[in-house]
Order: sequence, then C-alpha cells, then structure tokens
Amino acid sequence: MTELNFRRHRRLRSSKAMRSMVKETYLHKEDLIYPIFVMEGENIKNPVSSMPGVFQFSLDMLNAEVDEVVDLGIPAIIIFGLPAEKDAVGTGAFHDHGIVQKATRQIKERHPELMVIADTCLCEFTDHGHCGVVEGEKILNDPSLDVLARTAVSQAQAGADIIAPSNMMDGFVAAIRAALDEAGFEEIPIMSYAVKYASSYYGPFREAADGAPQFGDRKTYQMDPANRLEAFREAESDIEEGADFLIIKPALSYLDIIRDIRNNYTLPIVAYNVSGEYAMVKAAAQNGWIEEKPVVMETLLGMKRAGADMILTYHAKDVARWLEEK
Ligand code: PBG
Ligand code: ZN
Repeated sequence: MTELNFRRHRRLRSSKAMRSMVKETYLHKEDLIYPIFVMEGENIKNPVSSMPGVFQFSLDMLNAEVDEVVDLGIPAIIIFGLPAEKDAVGTGAFHDHGIVQKATRQIKERHPELMVIADTCLCEFTDHGHCGVVEGEKILNDPSLDVLARTAVSQAQAGADIIAPSNMMDGFVAAIRAALDEAGFEEIPIMSYAVKYASSYYGPFREAADGAPQFGDRKTYQMDPANRLEAFREAESDIEEGADFLIIKPALSYLDIIRDIRNNYTLPIVAYNVSGEYAMVKAAAQNGWIEEKPVVMETLLGMKRAGADMILTYHAKDVARWLEEK
C-alpha cells in the first residue's frame, strides 16, 4: 500500500473519557434564564397551546412554579405580565400594583436569592399592542421613553434585580439608566434587548403574553432579519448608553450575529431562544419525528458555542433536569 500522510482526528474521539477531556463547550444550569407569564385573576394555570409545558399563572398559583425553578438550580427568571386592563399608554406597565410589580414582590419575598428580571416593554399593556406610544398608526419614539423609564423604575421599586428593556425605541437604555440612577437604583443592571429582529418566530409568545400588534407590524422599530452590520450599531449604542448585558434575539437563525457580537464586545451576551424555536422542537418531538432531549441540548450548546454566556429559554426546566442525569 502507498504511504498516506494524514491526521488521525479520531484519536481524540476514541472513548467517552477521551471525548470528555477535549470537550470545548459546556452547558450549565447557571447559564439558564426561565421565562414566566403572570396574569391577573385567581386559580389560573392556563396552558399556552402553541407552547406545550408553558402556562400563564395567576399570582396564587405562581409559588409552586417558582419553587420548582429554584429547586432545579436555575438562577434567574424573566417575568412577562398580562394586565387585567389595557389602555393607549400601557398604564399597567408602570403601576405600583401592576401585575409584574406584584409578581416581583411576591417572588422576591419568597426567594430573595433568585434573580428576578423584569421585561420592560409596553406591548402587553397597550390596547394597540405596540411597544411604544402611538399617534394614529405611527409608533412615537421619544414620548415612549418617559413611559418606559417610569416602568423600569417601578419594576426596580418592586424589587426586580435586573431591568430588561425589549421595546427597541432609540435611546431606551439612556432614558432608563438616567431614571434608575435618579431614583437611587444605580446598582440595578440593564440587560438590553440590544439586537432584536422583527421575527416571525415570536408568534407563540404573542399568544402567551397577549401582546400582538393590533395594526401593522414592528418593522419600524425591530431590526430587519437581512441585516448584520446594523447589529453592531445597535450593540454599540446600547453599550455607550450604559447597557450591562446584551440580548440577541432570536437565537437559532442568528448564531452568526451572536458570534459577531461576542468577537467585538466584552459585555455578557444572552441568547434568547424564542417561542417559535421552542414550538418547532416541541411539535416535532410530539410527532415522534425528532428526539427532544438531544435536539434541545445540541441547539443550546450551539448557542453557547456561538458565543452566548447565558440562554433565555422555555426549555430551561427540562435542561436543568437533564443536566442532573448521569
Ligand atoms: C415584547 C417581547 C416579545 C418577545 C419578548 N418580548 C415579542 C415581540 O417583540 O413581539 C418574544 C419572545 C418570544 O418569542 O419568545 N416586546
Ligand atoms: Zn413589546
């Protein structure tokens, strides 16, 4: 036989122990952030039909869910609220007894060590379903900033550990940072949805959070999926304005963006594994077309390999359980 010169890559894959020695990327339960939907009312644990395993909870039903998250060792949750009533400016978002504020107080009292992240947006609280204040069919930028800043301060007053603004108005980080500082919350970090695309993958979430726009779409404030350089501009301005974490959303179709942002900035990066990504996996698994556990683990590992430090995911409870298995 002729002498062949080649590399034996398989040497490092020869056994489980060998593979484990050269493994580059790990998923830990400390990386996980679990989303929770809370709503007004009593005795409610409503399944979200497009997101099997995800529910909307009234406050009296919430403790068991949060206890489970804590017991699983998941360090953080993000809260989305469905108010009893909606209006044009989203009053429920910044009300002292708003649903997110009440849920935050209740959770922090029971679990002071759990990181409670408040999503700061208006779409769940406005009757038109947009993330800012509107005039006719126009989504106004600057008038929205005051409302968002008030919302962030009231969330911090309720005990939120981190403020996560998802509205994509220009200047929202600057406005929220200034308002938090003014109110004495200099120590509360901002986890900015810095790079958020106008994605069709948010469909199931809009059912879960009852936040679908009642006219038009979000394309004048969320990013065009075709754009990469724009992600740098968005990340850069949020950093200048005082962001402490950068969220990239969605995750699965935007792994290149996660890598770009990782290579260019040093802030911790959160990948948001969104509702539509979750729904696709769940649907295929329920049909027996894919194996849920290995597919989920591979997907989230891919997000970490792309450069994410943390993953905000509806799979978090399952993943925490799977990570415990031998
Ligand atoms: C609201 C918000 C959305 C999501 C998180 N916050 C929806 C949207 O922008 O329309 C989507 C999350 C998901 O799909 O899991 N601003
Ligand atoms: Zn919104």
